[in-house]
Amino acid sequence: MMDTDSPAMIERYRRCLDLQRRIGHVRDPELLAQLAMTEVSGLLGADRSTLFLFDWDTMELRANFAAGIPGRPLVVPLRMGIVGTAILRRELANVTNAYAHPYFNPEIDSALGYKTDSLLVVPIVATDGRILGGLELLNKASGRFTDDDERLAMASATNLGRWLEQDRAYPAGLEAEIVALRNNVGCDRGTLFTLDTATSRLVAAYADGGDGRPLSLNIKLGIAGMVAVTGQSVCLNDVAADPRFNRSVDHRTGYQTQTMLCVPLVSRSGDSESETVGVLQVINKHAGAFDAEDENLLEAVAASLAITVENARLFGEQRRQFLSMVEAMAASVDAHGATTVGHSGRTVSRAVAVGRALGLSTDDLELLRVATALHDHGMIGVDDAVVNKAGPLDPAEQSQMRRHTGLTEEILGHIHLSRHFRPLPLIAAAHHEAMDGSGYPRGLRGHEIPFLARIIAAVDTYEALIADRPYRPALTTEAAWQLILDESGRRFDPVVVAALEKVLSDTNVNG
Ligand SMILES: [Fe+2]
Repeated sequence: MMDTDSPAMIERYRRCLDLQRRIGHVRDPELLAQLAMTEVSGLLGADRSTLFLFDWDTMELRANFAAGIPGRPLVVPLRMGIVGTAILRRELANVTNAYAHPYFNPEIDSALGYKTDSLLVVPIVATDGRILGGLELLNKASGRFTDDDERLAMASATNLGRWLEQDRAYPAGLEAEIVALRNNVGCDRGTLFTLDTATSRLVAAYADGGDGRPLSLNIKLGIAGMVAVTGQSVCLNDVAADPRFNRSVDHRTGYQTQTMLCVPLVSRSGDSESETVGVLQVINKHAGAFDAEDENLLEAVAASLAITVENARLFGEQRRQFLSMVEAMAASVDAHGATTVGHSGRTVSRAVAVGRALGLSTDDLELLRVATALHDHGMIGVDDAVVNKAGPLDPAEQSQMRRHTGLTEEILGHIHLSRHFRPLPLIAAAHHEAMDGSGYPRGLRGHEIPFLARIIAAVDTYEALIADRPYRPALTTEAAWQLILDESGRRFDPVVVAALEKVLSDTNVNG
């Protein structure tokens, strides 16, 4: 009987809670992996620990940091073919031209002397989410499985799942179910696969329409892969005796894995479906074998890690979505002819370099990047004829042109911005303000002008001067720089001008 109230146990749980508190705030997956790994090894009294994250696009488990193996990224490819992938992802696959599919494994065809054209695979999942197996239909007579076929196969999979869940290995009625399904759908073969977690194989429990030879697919998962796709923890205290263990890493490194505890990171956020996002693995307990207490502890850590990994992923996705929208908006201004093509991109790079030279924080650099990309967005509301006029603007045209700052502010004001980006409309709209108060639209002066807007003002003017415009050719870099210097203190902030000078001279030196 385990003494869960012992001081040592209480201390372990205290450390576990402490670890969970700390990882909850981390956004960077690499940092998260490092922090978790060092702490988890200590917590479990183990030699090594590894956090694998699942990449369903490449079908790989990747570990950027494995405590005990510094600087060596580990990648475990999961080779499953179309059938294995569909079953283990719990997703239906309807493929018309199997040989053109990147996951298709033609080995089985060549072994059986058969040619697969179309296939339909439906996973069979238990009520508690465990994967039981899958149903595969091959070669539809008309060449393509239809929506109706999918519905029929899914209904059959549900029936078969009920039988399999009751642990009846070869239940009566199973055969009739598959024969009926194959006849209704009108295809060559119907096979029921069950997942054998002990050997990482999908084994044909019943194949209808085949030649009767036993069929099993090796899905090459290893132990971490198996944990990832089944969502079940694995505790092994004699790793060498387990057929799933992949010895290649030990062979390469000369390390000997003896005991291993592997738990899944299951994300339950978002929709109601849970998804395995990774695996947490600890190897070689210093004293004795991993026990149920270790498993509980590691599962508790994994639950926190899964939330953090999911948050980091969502945060990254949101950020990429926002930045790609910003890029598209910036490109629309370039396309309008308000600036030369590529002007926005060059101005953004230069502004960020100036921001860096001024020691801005990462958050402020991000805000500067976005504000610079969008500062002239209001130009889309200015007439083409005015924007592209090949001569000086008359007073009416000038006042129309000046309206672009107000339009920028108005348009950006319609975007729901996160707290950090909230000053964006004001910053972007203030890029024609001048230090002496002679600018527009508000005639702000000195410190009234947002600092990031002062950076955009100097950089954008410099970039505009060295580019061809409809009404004048490009100036030389020397002439443009002289104009900026002449306006330092009047129009531009001298602090920004000094930083721009440094950035330009670094560019000249380093090309
Ligand atoms: Fe402007």
